[in-house]
Amino acid sequence: QGDPRLKAISEAIRVVPHFPKQGIMFQDITTLLLDHKAFKDAVDIFVDRYRDMDISVVAGVEARGFIFGPSIALAIGAKFVPLRKPKKLPGEVICEAYELEYGTDCLEMHVEAAQPGERVLIIDDLVATGGTLSAAIRLLERVGAEVVECACVIGLPEFKVMLFKFMVEDTLQLSLS
Ligand code: PRP
Repeated sequence: QGDPRLKAISEAIRVVPHFPKQGIMFQDITTLLLDHKAFKDAVDIFVDRYRDMDISVVAGVEARGFIFGPSIALAIGAKFVPLRKPKKLPGEVICEAYELEYGTDCLEMHVEAAQPGERVLIIDDLVATGGTLSAAIRLLERVGAEVVECACVIGLPEFKVMLFKFMVEDTLQLSLS
């Protein structure tokens, strides 16, 4: 990968085997947050990519999209919209379900949080199956917003840290390579 910052960012993310259960290689971004330079570089790489793309909404997926999303939103001059787990938002919401390993869960968004035609960036820490991001895309599209891209710090499944995999609808492409 071409950007020299990516190696340090990648190394700052701790991989914890068998958490929260056997067989899962947990990608722990809390160690990235302790490394000021790596954390800032991670945010800056997104900001560099998105600042001139006329994005007015950054939507962050609970919980770890809330860590990266607001900094990016402030830097590119966009508003921040939290996409939350059920029953957390007090206003009128829309809901989109997604598959878990066992059962389903859903993400909710305040209906007035984004307007038709607004250009949206969706942020999360990690994409595994893509189910969560797909639900996020559907939420924004239901209110008529345009999802420009989804950006994650970590891409799975190779259980290698592959930074900045950008996903648009169901097309995965590795960028910044
Ligand atoms: C993790 C991660 C993503 C999602 C990715 O969140 O932060 O949001 O899983 O998985 P997928 O691509 O297979 O949908 P988790 O569901 O653990 O929720 P949390 O951040 O609230 O703990």
